[in-house]
Formats: sequence, C-alpha cells, structure tokens
Amino acid sequence: MPSATQAAITPASESCGDRQSHHIVDRVIKNRFSCRTFSGRAVPRATIEDILDVARFAPSGANTQPWRVYAVAGPVKEEISRRLLNAHEQSREQHSSEYQYYADPLPEPYSSRRNEFGRIFYGALGIEQSDIERRLRQTSKNYGFFGASAGLVFTIDRRLQVGSWLDLGMFIQNIMIAAIARGLHTCPQESFSKYHMLLRDLLPIPPEEMVVCGMSVGFVDETRACERAPMPKAPIDEFARFAGFEDEGVDISRHRLNRGAE
Ligand SMILES: Cc1cc2nc3c(=O)[nH]c(=O)nc-3n(C[C@H](O)[C@H](O)[C@H](O)COP(=O)(O)O)c2cc1C
Repeated sequence: MPSATQAAITPASESCGDRQSHHIVDRVIKNRFSCRTFSGRAVPRATIEDILDVARFAPSGANTQPWRVYAVAGPVKEEISRRLLNAHEQSREQHSSEYQYYADPLPEPYSSRRNEFGRIFYGALGIEQSDIERRLRQTSKNYGFFGASAGLVFTIDRRLQVGSWLDLGMFIQNIMIAAIARGLHTCPQESFSKYHMLLRDLLPIPPEEMVVCGMSVGFVDETRACERAPMPKAPIDEFARFAGFEDEGVDISRHRLNRGAE
C-alpha cells in the first residue's frame, strides 16, 4: 500500500493522463447512481478500509482533511437500523438534523428539479405522489441501509465553516467512485442526520462532531433493477459559461447524453 509520501512523488509519466484511463474514469463516474436495492452480500472490512485509504487523497483547504467517518456492519449496523426505524415509526417529530440541507423555500430551478426527482423516483416504485403512507414506508428503508451489508456515518467538527463541508463532500464523492471501481454501490443519505442523538448513543461520536450524512455500501441486487430510477442530469449549457478559449469548443449537444453514453 503506497504511503502518502510515495503518492506525492509519483512521476508525471504515471499520472494516468492517457485516453484509456480517461474512459475508465468516465465510465466509473457515470456508473455511480444512488443504489437503494442491495443484495445483503457481505462487504469485508478490508474492502471498506481499502476504499477509505484511497478516498483520503481528496483535496481539502490547506490540507485540513476535516472528514470523520464511522464504518458499521453486522450487529452494530443492525442495532442502528432497529433504533432508527423504531424512532422513524414512533417519534420522528422529536428528532431533527443539526443543519438545514435545503433552502426553504427552495428557489427555481432547484424546486422543479426536486419535484421531477419525486415523480421519477416514486414513479419507478409505483407509488403515487399523494400516497403519504407508502412514501413514509419507502423513506424508512433508508434506516435499514436499503439492505446493504455496510454503512458509513459521516461527521464534521461543528466549529468548522462551510468551506470544510466542501472538503467533506469531495471525500464522500471519492468513496462513491472508489466503491464503483470495486464493484460496489452506494447511496449517500442525509436522512441519517435527523437521528444524530440516537447515533451518538450507539457510536463514539464526540459532542463537537455534527452528523452530516450516512451512506449505504454494498452489492446491488440486480434482480430489482426495475426499481432503479436513473436521474436526468442537466446539460453543461445549463450550468457552465465559457470565456477566453481560443477554440470554438465541441458540439455541446454531445454532452446532453446522460449516463451510460460514451
Ligand atoms: C448529500 C446527499 C444526501 C442524500 N440523501 C439521501 C437520502 O437520505 N436518501 C436517499 O434515498 N437518497 C439520498 N440522496 C441521493 C439523491 O437523491 C440522489 O443523489 C439524486 O437523486 C441523484 O441521483 P443519483 O445519485 O442516482 O445520480 C442524497 C444525495 C446526496 C448527495
């Protein structure tokens, strides 16, 4: 396993800037999706360690590396699921996240995209948008880690500022990419932050850490692929502006293609 120092002195010739590696990386990034149907097949601790060992190379402001992660499996994960599911059913009004994920009200175009997410997501599951009972039952599956055999809980020191949350996001994305490259899938889950008090009971999370989100990690249950809801991604002309390039660029309509397209 290379040390941080060894990685830092990797010669430029090994820096993977060739055509083949860009195809592999692009495919891995495009193959990631939020998996909510896992098979339950065990993920060894060594694999989780291996993923974290590569994810730690994420950039961070002044190399502060503000991420903290609690990896769970087996009886510990089962107990988390039991306690959170119970709270979700019996006392969800008594729990709240320590931070607000979404702006309220959510401005456009984000509000429309969230509505579209709901239509696609619940549509794939055959759940009417108005069927609150079934939607709640679907939400409760978050706390069973969607059947995955491993889970991660991410925290951050509450004294840190929004810049450090960027760093944490990069670390989390690295984990999801490294997982895909190893044949595993993931689902990032802010739904865990609501039950941070319960998680503090079950994991050694110190008071200065805030629970940011969880993540399910495991092997996808391919027999349930029909429950999957591929999410549309906005084309680059909706979020990028270019200035100062000498070339005219490529036909951006090519980039309208969604995942799976090469
Ligand atoms: C920080 C974060 C938190 C999320 N929280 C949840 C969650 O609690 N439950 C869930 O089912 N999906 C959750 N998601 C997954 C999003 O719904 C998903 O990323 C989005 O719909 C796009 O789909 P894709 O990941 O398949 O591309 C979360 C995603 C992110 C990035």
